[in-house]
Amino acid sequence: MERVRIGIVGTGNIAPMNVRGYLEHPQCDVVAVCDPRREKAERMAAEWGVERVYDSLDGILADEEVDAVEILTPTYLHRDHVIAAARAGKHISCQKPIANSVADAREMVAACEEAGVVFRVTENAFHWPALMKAKELIAAGRIGTPTMIRIKTVVGRTDSEFQNTLEPEGYIWRFNNQSPGGHLFDDVVHKYATALWLTDDDIRSVQAVVRKAPLFFEAPTAAIWEYERDDLLGMMEVTYAPNMLIRSDHFGADEFFEIQGTDGYVWVTCLTGRLLDLPPVMLYEADGTQTNYSVDTHYETSFANASKHFVDSLLNNSQPDMSGELAVKVLQLCFAVYQASIERGPVDPSTIDTAVSPPWWPPSPELLMKEAMEMGAHIDRP
Ligand SMILES: NC(=O)c1ccc[n+]([C@@H]2O[C@H](COP(=O)([O-])OP(=O)(O)OC[C@H]3O[C@@H](n4cnc5c(N)ncnc54)[C@H](O)[C@@H]3O)[C@@H](O)[C@H]2O)c1
Repeated sequence: MERVRIGIVGTGNIAPMNVRGYLEHPQCDVVAVCDPRREKAERMAAEWGVERVYDSLDGILADEEVDAVEILTPTYLHRDHVIAAARAGKHISCQKPIANSVADAREMVAACEEAGVVFRVTENAFHWPALMKAKELIAAGRIGTPTMIRIKTVVGRTDSEFQNTLEPEGYIWRFNNQSPGGHLFDDVVHKYATALWLTDDDIRSVQAVVRKAPLFFEAPTAAIWEYERDDLLGMMEVTYAPNMLIRSDHFGADEFFEIQGTDGYVWVTCLTGRLLDLPPVMLYEADGTQTNYSVDTHYETSFANASKHFVDSLLNNSQPDMSGELAVKVLQLCFAVYQASIERGPVDPSTIDTAVSPPWWPPSPELLMKEAMEMGAHIDRP
């Protein structure tokens, strides 16, 4: 393949950040756009300089000039959309989470294998320069043998234009029974993926406590996990601080990562936001030296990089990140955290074949309304 002709399926909130990488790639042409919201699809197509607009998936999949599709539809539609795209012979990049259940995700992987098309799940965290640097330092042995991976996510409030102009439709399917869980399913999958990818070690056992917070948040959450290697453990916390301003150009959240090894450690101090004035990557080595790395910390860079990586992989005939197999493991880890909290005992993620929801899920519309009103009143209080 000399060039990649890509079709964009779904023009909702996160589409522009993903499409940017395709528009910027010198060997990629964005040739078609599809969304049942025709007016929105036409508006985005005009912005991206794309002529062909479809309002049905069948339409874009029948377009012979589309080699590959980026699927940016709500997660509960991923299964049907990926299987349809595979059967139409298109190579596929699909947003995280891969699907609403492990069984669906496995069907998607099988359908792509059967059709002989490339399939990856877009995981922008793998293309975020600070995390890429950390992975590179770990692989180069700079911290010795990794012994502990610690991941913190904090959700707060932000005044970013991005967050203030999100279309409300994008919230509805995340807050009802069209999703199997809330924030841990929708966002923390990035952190589960990172936990599996940083050292390429599998996780065999998870323990966790997950509490309910307003709307779809699930915090405070604390989880620990055992990797296949006896000498590596992981831990994760998710906190909710609705009154705390997070400096961010996008969502009101931020993350920190600490990877401790036998010889040193590496810290990654921001991802979604810029909560702290710290270098994005800090390495502490065996001889006591600290090295700070200044890398591109723009959140949107990770999306552009992820899209470019998909094109490069198609051009080079290589498997792009994140493989369907890894995306299945990420989903199993996500559900294992819910399951471990329900059982108050260790859960082996590989035993999860379907989906697990927290006991309070889905929230009723009345409860959502009440919590939204309470939050508004609380935050506006002088
Ligand atoms: N990597 C990230 O950090 C990140 C961030 C946000 C969202 N996402 C993922 O991206 C996906 C979309 O999220 P969003 O926030 O943009 O959602 P959204 O609801 O804002 O957008 C979804 C779009 O899909 C369209 N759509 C619905 N049915 C369709 C169909 N049959 N064919 C074509 N289009 C259809 C909708 O009209 C809408 O425009 C989700 O899977 C989500 O998890 C990833």
